[in-house]
Amino acid sequence: MSLSSDSLVGKVCVVTGAAKSIGFGVAKKYAESGAKVAMIDIDPLVVESAKGLADKGYVVKSYVLDITDRQAVLKTFERIVADLGDIYALANVAGVVDNRPFEEVDEAVFDRMFRVNVYGSAYCIQGALPSMKKQRDGKIINFSSKSGKTGSALMVPYSAAKGAVIVMTQALAYEFAKYNIKINAICPGITNETGVWANVSAGYIENLKMDREAVVKQFTAKVPLGRLTDIQDVVDFVFFLTASGEYCTGQAFNVTGGREMH
Ligand SMILES: NC(=O)c1ccc[n+]([C@@H]2O[C@H](COP(=O)([O-])OP(=O)(O)OC[C@H]3O[C@@H](n4cnc5c(N)ncnc54)[C@H](O)[C@@H]3O)[C@@H](O)[C@H]2O)c1
Repeated sequence: MSLSSDSLVGKVCVVTGAAKSIGFGVAKKYAESGAKVAMIDIDPLVVESAKGLADKGYVVKSYVLDITDRQAVLKTFERIVADLGDIYALANVAGVVDNRPFEEVDEAVFDRMFRVNVYGSAYCIQGALPSMKKQRDGKIINFSSKSGKTGSALMVPYSAAKGAVIVMTQALAYEFAKYNIKINAICPGITNETGVWANVSAGYIENLKMDREAVVKQFTAKVPLGRLTDIQDVVDFVFFLTASGEYCTGQAFNVTGGREMH
């Protein structure tokens, strides 16, 4: 497999959850690689995040969108095609986490975890497929988690939803291989300087009555490479799967420093 640094030049890449953290990192990397980037987020901050990149001369456009609204998603993807052209890649980064004892979990929590992490990703794929089928080419990268491989205590609905993302990825990979569309999932470990980790660490601090330093130490101790994941570790892998990875589909790749090995 070759990793061509110019293989994304002029291609349209869509990133959800692009206002900040991992999603912003992926959008920036695509833009720096010469792609035309559509940045989606429910948070209007995405407008400013995109402007920062556009001011540097990159071709980026922002779209404020709740990915759980299927009709709005399909309309937005039509707009992206009208604005930038047919879509080559979709990085489904947007996600939400929840951390609480299982006995306190109600319907609303399950609902939110599945609506955003599973349904939202699926709707965006439906939005991107017409372009990819037409071109008989495309890359889709879904975001699962280490918790989607081995479930995490105090995160039952999140773990269940991220597990569903992996199996959804496999089913889609089978269904759309005939159009040469490669569909994979990424399973990051605990990633520094992100909203998910801020939320999870706050949850563990409260639920386990531990201070932040002890929480970080406990998690790092289980990572063979001895540190938490950096945003750049995840961004680099997403870039590989987008710009190369031509013989990979239906996989769920761990980016966990060895914390997860299956
Ligand atoms: N950070 C980690 O430790 C970690 C570990 C494993 C997996 N992940 C997964 O990686 C992805 C990114 O995580 P992160 O920590 O960068 O998240 P984050 O919370 O920092 O950013 C997620 C973005 O998604 C957006 N978003 C949420 N709901 C949305 C909706 N309905 N419509 C559109 N946008 C919406 C948010 O506004 C936010 O900008 C998520 O799918 C997460 O589950 C993260």
